[in-house]
Parts: sequence; structure tokens; C-alpha cells
Amino acid sequence: MSTPLIELQNVSRIYDLGHIQVAALQGVDLDVQEGEFLAIVGPSGSGKSTLMNIVGCLDRPTAGTYTLNGTPVAELDDDGLARLRSRTIGFVFQNYNLLPRTSALENVATPLLYQGVSRKDRLARAGAALERLGLGDRVNHVPTELSGGQQQRVAIARALVTEPALLLADEPTGNLDSSSGADVITLLHELNAAGRTIVMITHDVDVARVASRQVHVRDGRLIA
Ligand SMILES: Nc1ncnc2c1ncn2[C@@H]1O[C@H](COP(=O)(O)OP(=O)(O)OP(=O)(O)O)[C@@H](O)[C@H]1O
Ligand SMILES: [Mg+2]
Repeated sequence: MSTPLIELQNVSRIYDLGHIQVAALQGVDLDVQEGEFLAIVGPSGSGKSTLMNIVGCLDRPTAGTYTLNGTPVAELDDDGLARLRSRTIGFVFQNYNLLPRTSALENVATPLLYQGVSRKDRLARAGAALERLGLGDRVNHVPTELSGGQQQRVAIARALVTEPALLLADEPTGNLDSSSGADVITLLHELNAAGRTIVMITHDVDVARVASRQVHVRDGRLIA
């Protein structure tokens, strides 16, 4: 088998609050191959977001090793980690995290700024990404002028505009009604069918079912 895109070995994340230590993750082993669609499922407080933050290079393990696309993240300083993150990962969050008072087009173009792409090319690529997601007629709308489902599609366009190897989604349907949620899930399914690796966090077992593999988190540990 080829080198996994994501390789966690015995990863733990302990939050040290001084008077108390919270073991949010303990001894997690996880491999994700390129092209997989993995759902990480578990109840509130089980450690899903902690795991997503580590996989997404927004946080580091307090023990164990994480290797992303062949690079052991422990060997990178914070700038190196940020570069690896912006090259490799697109993020989608429950609350969309769009810039307010900023058009859909400018929102989607933003990640390309950090890659030194010219303004003309940024806007062209952002426009094409929005077009692909069926929002070609909404490029100049600001987030408050879009429905929740449309805002989440803008967020997915923004996550994809850099053509990342990995799409990481934390409760992508959490704020959506069931019909817009189903649209987003169909979209993720299509993106995966086209070859994109997706890791999605959810506490909803119905949402998890679209993934090709599920892992369950309980009290900071992965169970099969
Ligand atoms: N910054 C922090 N400091 C201390 N403890 C934390 C911190 N962040 C999370 N925790 C604790 O770590 C555990 C895992 O939290 P996490 O946010 O990963 O859960 P989750 O599975 O994403 O939950 P939810 O479904 O509610 O989003 C919880 O017990 C939480 O209280
Ligand atoms: Mg969470």
C-alpha cells in the first residue's frame, strides 16, 4: 500500500489547565489513504474537534506522531506548519466562517492570497469554483444575502479553490435544515467520487453513512 495521506501514531492531546489535566485524545492510531472519504463519529465532548484540529495542523499532539503527506509535523516550526496547511488542506466548518461584509467571490479568493496568486487569477479561480458549486449568480452577494446552504457552498468553494489534497469538514451540516444538509452531503460525495480525500466529523450517524469508512470516538479514544 502507498504512504497514507494522514498517519497518526499513538497521538494524545492533553489540555493542561494547571489544576487539572483534560485528556481530550489518548493513544489514537489512524491512517487515511488518498481518495478515502472518512467519517469521524462521536458524541459531544468525545474529542472530535480536538482530532480535527490536529489533523488540520491547527494544533499539535502533546504525545505521539502525526505525519501529513509524508511530512512529520513535529519537525516543522509554526510557519512551516502554516505553509503545509495552506498547501494541503481545505477547511469547512459548521458555522461557515465566511468574512462578513465581503462578497462570495472575495471570500473564495482569500486562500489564494497566501499562495501569492495574482489578483486577476485569484478572482478568476474563485469565480470558477463558485460556478462549479452552482453559485455563479451569487458571486457578488455578501454572506447575509445568502441562505445557510448557500453560505456553506461558498465555504466549500473556498476550501477547494487551492485544490487541496485533503478536505476537512467539522459538522458541515450542523447548522443546516435537512434539505440543504442533504445537498451538502451529496456535494461531498461527488467531490470524493472525483478523487478528493475527505475527512468529515459528525455526531449524526445518518450523515456519516455517506462516507466510505467510519471511525468512532469515545472519551478521546478511537473504537472500531
Ligand atoms: N481548550 C480546551 N481546554 C481544555 N479542555 C478542552 C479544550 N478544548 C476541548 N477540551 C475538552 O476536551 C474534550 C474534547 O473536546 P472536543 O471539542 O474535541 O469535543 P467534540 O467531540 O468536538 O464535541 P462537540 O460534538 O460538542 O463539538 C472535552 O472534554 C472538552 O471539554
Ligand atoms: Mg466539536
